[in-house]
Amino acid sequence: MVKDLTVDRSFDAYQDFVLKCKLAWTRQLYPALKSQYDATVAERAAAGAPVPADHTEVAAALADNPLAQYFGWFERHLQRMKYSGLHGLEPHFAGRREQLAEDLKAGAESGLVDLDPAFEQPGYYVAVDIHQQPGGVWSDEVGGYIYERGARTTTPLLASDADLHHRFTREVLARASGAKRLVDLGCGFGKSSRPFYRQHSELDVVGVEVSAPCLTLAARTAAEDQARNVRFRQADAADTGLDAAAFDVVTSTMLLHEMPPPHIERLLHESHRLLAPGGLSIHLDFLTDEDPFRRYIHYGHSARNNEPFMPPLNEMDIAGAHRQAGFESVEVVPFEEMPGALAPGFDAWRFPFVMIIARKAA
Ligand SMILES: C[S@@+](CC[C@H](N)C(=O)[O-])C[C@H]1O[C@@H](n2cnc3c(N)ncnc32)[C@H](O)[C@@H]1O
Repeated sequence: MVKDLTVDRSFDAYQDFVLKCKLAWTRQLYPALKSQYDATVAERAAAGAPVPADHTEVAAALADNPLAQYFGWFERHLQRMKYSGLHGLEPHFAGRREQLAEDLKAGAESGLVDLDPAFEQPGYYVAVDIHQQPGGVWSDEVGGYIYERGARTTTPLLASDADLHHRFTREVLARASGAKRLVDLGCGFGKSSRPFYRQHSELDVVGVEVSAPCLTLAARTAAEDQARNVRFRQADAADTGLDAAAFDVVTSTMLLHEMPPPHIERLLHESHRLLAPGGLSIHLDFLTDEDPFRRYIHYGHSARNNEPFMPPLNEMDIAGAHRQAGFESVEVVPFEEMPGALAPGFDAWRFPFVMIIARKAA
């Protein structure tokens, strides 16, 4: 029997194992840690001792707690396992480099992507291997594939990761009836742009992204979709080179937490410039409330997943930064990434998703 080289059951089994471990971390370890923490707080309160007032005091209270140590270790190392080892993403895709490079030609030659060979990556972006992906999502020609496959085990409670993007697309278009031109900043390998261009032929969509491997994969997928209403462009979201007032909607999905606050401020000025009068700006990202435990978990995730700008985003005055950039009526609205995620009884780990919504004056 001839072996089918496109099927790799060992790789699939290993990545499925990582996913199942992440599920156990999300559904079992997180609520268990939360209840141990609540018990510690209750004991302290009963003894008249001070209870943690912020995330640093939560960290101090849990420093010697074995479950807290295990929880952090498990998150850090599961993410590392995803990429490394015999069936990790890195060796898997490196071993198929030639075949994949050939496959990507359909993207590069589709006419749907505008790459800039002289593009210089922002300094903050190359300073860490984001998500622990070795070399980041930009330095390897197969980096887009690695990112795409890795993203499938990032939010394990979502039946399909795509569901989140469909939900966000609906939220955006519910606030932008009649929109014709939309720009998706930090579009990655196109997952966030796809529901817009695929299900809304009335829209012209531009995806902007710094990573050429991600853009080429986005264009390959769009070519396969036979899309006519999307273009991808290699540029910094804070300096897109696109025409002023050319868009009805500016969106981003999980981009802001990847950049330092001064870069976010530049991006907001650029977004304001790109929008036509009355245009909508809407960013899906992560902001925790004041709850010390939730903040401790979110900041810990930031460190463990090599995403250093989550805390600065959380602490900057994001509404004020929008107003500084010229926006009106800024609001921050919780985002329900799956049914029940915002219900009081929901006790699994989740990202603190919010939509940051603003308008340019009409
Ligand atoms: C977490 S990913 C989200 C990708 C996509 N929006 C999605 O939802 O799947 C953030 C993306 O932003 C890109 N990025 C980071 N800094 C950027 C910048 N200054 N300009 C454009 N894209 C940027 C990264 O390369 C990455 O692909």
